[in-house]
Amino acid sequence: MNKIIVAIDGYSSCGKSTLAKEIAVALNYIYIDTGAMYRAVTLYALRNKLLSNDKFDKQQLIESLPQISVSFSYNSTLNHSETYLDGENIEGQIRGIEVSRHVSKIAQVKEVRAKLVEIQREIGKEKGLVMDGRDIGTVVYPNAELKIFMTADYKIRAQRRFEELQAKGDDISYEDVLNNITSRDNDDTSRSVNPLIQADDAIVIDNSEITRDEQLKIALQYVSEKISQ
Ligand code: DC
Repeated sequence: MNKIIVAIDGYSSCGKSTLAKEIAVALNYIYIDTGAMYRAVTLYALRNKLLSNDKFDKQQLIESLPQISVSFSYNSTLNHSETYLDGENIEGQIRGIEVSRHVSKIAQVKEVRAKLVEIQREIGKEKGLVMDGRDIGTVVYPNAELKIFMTADYKIRAQRRFEELQAKGDDISYEDVLNNITSRDNDDTSRSVNPLIQADDAIVIDNSEITRDEQLKIALQYVSEKISQ
């Protein structure tokens, strides 16, 4: 069977990773969460005191880039890849509000983007890949066979994310989550390097009113059309 690349882009917290993981499991493809890569570099910058609420030493980060290793390793228990920073599994440390608050600054640095895009292209050489992010169908894989652009009402996204963080025990208010989502939407769409835009040939899935199963069914229908072409 033809292997393809499925590129999934869209706004923060609209379930891109959930859908991407489910497609990858259904097809036995590799799944890569590129947001996790930007989060990993953010964690590096926070740990090395290059980044805080009132400071960002961009130049030092750029100089450190050759020494920063971001990679993935497949976890067969969880059925998906996990993110590693310099050999350390950092999955548990990159999803909280602290990294979320700062990640947009890191994602604007063109040298960071260039490094991560190169890694992302290397991973997809053999196809059989589902990758999600903001610039996958436009920059990383402009020739991807299937491009999905995901969206959902911002209040619904904030509510879902709030419940997720609460379940993890994060002490955070709904307003904080809502503000973080709207400001990241703004940063993602307005940055000068590789902003979030819908590719002309992307199909749009708005999951405000549909279930996980429904969105998976829709996506797999498109996948099977592309594979049989
Ligand atoms: O998908 P996410 O929320 O985990 O992504 C974290 C941040 O990284 C998000 O604010 C935008 C940025 N990002 C990006 O600029 N390009 C990508 N391909 C993926 C994420």
